[in-house]
Amino acid sequence: AFTSAAHASPPEVDNIAHRGASAYAPENTLAACALARSQRADTCELDVQQTKDDHLVLMHDQTLTRTTNVEQVFPDRSPWRVSDFTLAEIKRLDAGSWFSSHFRGERVPTLREALRESNGGIGLLLEVKHSPRNPDIDRRVAAELQETRSWWSSRRLAVQAFDWQSMRTFHSLMPQVPIALLGKPDLDKLTELAGFAKALNLPHSELTAQYVKSVHDKGMRVYTWRAQKRAVIRRLISYGVDGIMTNRPDHLHGVKHGR
Ligand code: G3P
Ligand code: CA
Repeated sequence: AFTSAAHASPPEVDNIAHRGASAYAPENTLAACALARSQRADTCELDVQQTKDDHLVLMHDQTLTRTTNVEQVFPDRSPWRVSDFTLAEIKRLDAGSWFSSHFRGERVPTLREALRESNGGIGLLLEVKHSPRNPDIDRRVAAELQETRSWWSSRRLAVQAFDWQSMRTFHSLMPQVPIALLGKPDLDKLTELAGFAKALNLPHSELTAQYVKSVHDKGMRVYTWRAQKRAVIRRLISYGVDGIMTNRPDHLHGVKHGR
């Protein structure tokens, strides 16, 4: 039977909050993930890096300067790389004021805090930020994920990276955690990648309906980033993508429900 638009069920596309609801709250913080959840995101995408004393924290850039007050607190530690600071030093930083005084005092979270805070209430898509300075980060991420097996289900936790070789290693460590590969592989590579990856995640500027179909034909899902405008979100949904990363989960929720 023909269903009218008003009753058509919303498209299945996963609403993935890019670094949390990062248009409205400081990125990669517990506040940004909590806001994403209140805006009906299904998943919070977070960036994971390693500190000098081998703790895992949420931070996008290799340096702390853009999203914390590190230059005020540690003026003589240029270039203020995450990997040159201990967790205790990083925990002294304000990771909210740069965004808005409303978030003064928000801290840089550890991966453990994010896993505990989420506890299945919102999915997590953890992007491992690889660098030659932390060759064992995949093993460390796997160890911390092992500690939180209680709330896992395949659509609640996934790991992604630009470094596909490292993701192959990660898959051997944790075959039960779905992997997404960042980037746009040539079509002739899809069969091999489907051997360990469940999804591809690529910039929407590189996406076509045909490419989505080719990836689906290989049994992999397609995620894309980073869409804020409703018209772009509608086009991506029309391609049949499985997830959209956005800084504005409220916009994606609205489009999914016909607003
Ligand atoms: O997940 C895709 C996207 O997060 C990768 O780019 O720079 O936002 O971490 P970036
Ligand atoms: Ca990311």
